[in-house]
Amino acid sequence: MGKPHKSFAPPKGMRDFYPEDMLVRSRIFDAWRKAGKQSGFAEYDACVVETQDLLKRKAGEEIVDQIYTFKDKSGRELALRPEMTPTLARMVTAREGSLSFPIKWTTIAQCFRYERMTRGRKREHYQWNLDVVGCDSPAAEAEIIATAVAALAEMGLNREHYLVRFSSRALLGELLNALGIDHDHHAATFLALDKRGKISDEAIEDLLKKEGVDHETASKVFDLLSLHTLEEVSARIPDNSPALTEVEQFLSFAEAYGIRDLLKLNLSVIRGLSYYTGIVFEGFDSRGELRAIFGGGRYDSLLSDLGGSARTAVGMGFGDVVVAELLAETETDNATPVIEAVRVGFMEESQRTTAIQVAAALRRQGRTAHLALTPERAKNFFSQASKTGCNEAIYIGPDDIETGKIRIKNMVTREQREMDVGDL
Ligand code: HAM
Repeated sequence: MGKPHKSFAPPKGMRDFYPEDMLVRSRIFDAWRKAGKQSGFAEYDACVVETQDLLKRKAGEEIVDQIYTFKDKSGRELALRPEMTPTLARMVTAREGSLSFPIKWTTIAQCFRYERMTRGRKREHYQWNLDVVGCDSPAAEAEIIATAVAALAEMGLNREHYLVRFSSRALLGELLNALGIDHDHHAATFLALDKRGKISDEAIEDLLKKEGVDHETASKVFDLLSLHTLEEVSARIPDNSPALTEVEQFLSFAEAYGIRDLLKLNLSVIRGLSYYTGIVFEGFDSRGELRAIFGGGRYDSLLSDLGGSARTAVGMGFGDVVVAELLAETETDNATPVIEAVRVGFMEESQRTTAIQVAAALRRQGRTAHLALTPERAKNFFSQASKTGCNEAIYIGPDDIETGKIRIKNMVTREQREMDVGDL
């Protein structure tokens, strides 16, 4: 045995989940799973360890510098995944001959990033992913965002609490073309612009300069980011723009889903990952105080870039950290939620066997029974029943053994009903 640990905290940026934390986490996971299932997404999973080879991509992406890397004992260069998308692309490509596209897949993946620790950013988080592979139409974007919105509603959030900002890299690309910035420089320009707010505009201009963008054009590029209507955008690009048509279609689909009012065009939504090619989007709290709740977009070249067939894809990642902050902020009522469960307890050791029999019978009937493991005074027993949120409680004392009857107390209405022990 080595020296005893000095600290009982987890490594910096990692979280422990105590039972009360698990209540929150399960509520979020349950909402994700329910919404994914209701929209017909099929669940998949993979190991958290990936090869570094798969994850190393173009320079300029923050995420590449944040990867936790290690070598195994045979010298293989491995990593803890920072996101799920490369893994999804790998898995789809491995079976592309046998899958019937479009596919709709979902997973809840733990991801690791060595991030600077700020509010809403940890070094480990769980991320719900929704991806559609093989659908060219913006129907895929609308389907994904509608499903994310359904999960937020399932968590009890209402439409006043959040909004979805969207843009299109293809549309921004057309705007850059109109300013004379060649297509070859668009990817680097997007990544430079995504750093806005994180580094100074002068530093962004230096990055743009490397792409051949002079000072005057750079300020026009910055101006683009404040365009907020499709009319303003269409005035700056040639007629019959395919990117504009795609966005208009996307909005009409969103209308049909009943989520159009949540969508706000914002060209400063660029996304920090280089693989996005089309519509990009991010969910935010309406007060604008928190980091993005979720983010995603269309990535039509990633699968072929990794060596698969050319196949279009759209996806989204929705983390557990920011939405938990939003839930904590919007909920003033911190009372323990009432659950469908019976707490069963007893006064003295001599009633233990009956208590066990009662709990065992309830469990056989499919009920949830929280059985006390030590004798308790009535006051303690009922206070524990309330604390754990049980909706019913059965407390067995010496008199109950004599009469052969037990009393079932409804913890919400405080009403009691009696039952023969034998009837259980
Ligand atoms: P992302 O924007 O890097 O996208 O992450 C998606 C979401 O994961 C964020 O909006 C946030 O909720 C959460 N998240 C990311 N990093 C952290 C962190 N360090 N701490 C807490 N939460 C975090 C992606 O990862 C893309 N792979 C999403 C995607 C799927 N695109 C296509 N398919």
